[in-house]
Amino acid sequence: MPPRVAPTRLDDLVRSPFARLALLLDGIAPGAPPLDLSLGEPKALIPSFLGPTLQEHLLEFGRYPPIRGIAPLREAIVGWMGRRYPRLKGQIDPDTQVLPLNGSREGLFSAIFPAMARKPQLERPAVLIPNPFYQAYAAAAGASGAAPVFLPSTAEAGFLPKLESIDETLLQRTVAFYLCTPSNPQGAVAGRSYLAHAIALARRFDFLIFADECYSEIYGDVPPPGTLETAHTASGSLANVVAFQSLSKRSGLPGLRSGFVAGDPEFIAAFGRFRNVACPQVPLPVQHVSARAWADERHVEEGRALYRQNFAVAGELLEGRYGYRRPEGSFFLWLKMAGFGDGEQAAKTLWKGCGVRVLPGAYLAQAEPDGDNPGTDYIRVALVHDADTTREALTRLVAILG
Ligand SMILES: Cc1ncc(COP(=O)(O)O)c(C=O)c1O
Repeated sequence: MPPRVAPTRLDDLVRSPFARLALLLDGIAPGAPPLDLSLGEPKALIPSFLGPTLQEHLLEFGRYPPIRGIAPLREAIVGWMGRRYPRLKGQIDPDTQVLPLNGSREGLFSAIFPAMARKPQLERPAVLIPNPFYQAYAAAAGASGAAPVFLPSTAEAGFLPKLESIDETLLQRTVAFYLCTPSNPQGAVAGRSYLAHAIALARRFDFLIFADECYSEIYGDVPPPGTLETAHTASGSLANVVAFQSLSKRSGLPGLRSGFVAGDPEFIAAFGRFRNVACPQVPLPVQHVSARAWADERHVEEGRALYRQNFAVAGELLEGRYGYRRPEGSFFLWLKMAGFGDGEQAAKTLWKGCGVRVLPGAYLAQAEPDGDNPGTDYIRVALVHDADTTREALTRLVAILG
């Protein structure tokens, strides 16, 4: 038998929700042909118009790409930002305020290192993380040696951290605040006044807002406000704020591994220097394909139309059950399972009863100091398939849970 290694702090902090789900369901046979609604991976959209661009630039896989990205990509990104957030039009310098990423996850993780370096005097640097949260934030805190501080994001608080209850001494030792809007898993959108408040705190206590906006293009009728636009409108400056974006959800291209970070030019410069030795460049053909994708809005609208259909199906089948509410953004349902044991129990029941795979909410959250995990009672259900598959999966879910 191999020796049993005691979990390190990082192991405790960072556990893949999907690996945990695989363990939970290990040995349980699905009660019907499986339908996977656990992963936030868009299934029904592939923007095939990008194929010729990839082919055209194929030979460029033979070259190391520049970490700062090629000008056409940075310009396409800035063009998109100006169309999506009109007050940013002409305000973002593609040379100094944008960096391409291999998907937003690696950027969300690696940005913590230059953020820590900004405040070397802190003895106990802290990173603010909403709870529940996207696991890369905790990995960043854990790996950098900062203390992750989980901020409850309960239903009563609109599923966002309560800014007014963050203690001043904590703000003084904060290096970064991961602000996810629309949030994963609850789909809550931070309004302009919330964003302005968060930005004001970041500037007063000189930490960074890491705005994770990768779900910003998946919404019903009202586009969520942007953190950079809010910062610029309030002060004409992007100091202390960077936003992370991705083609994974917007364009249905999670396998392309392409995103960007933009904002505070001083931080972008430091992050660029750090990335130049420590982080992956985006392959050149991927950069060309990405430039094309950022320049096109039609496929994004088609994606939104598909998610609208899925939410119409969800409303029809789930209204009045499991605390169903249509999220303001993202493609997730955050359903309350208190009457069915808890989220883990419900995930097992659904898999065994009807082959529907969902994620227990507890796997997306940490226990609060009182021992309560705010995700325990929930499951997360990703509506990433076409409408017929969504209807089939949710019909099965209702048949099993009642
Ligand atoms: C909240 C959130 N942020 C970031 C990511 C990372 O996405 P990607 O690395 O594909 O851009 C995800 C992926 O699921 C996510 O849910």
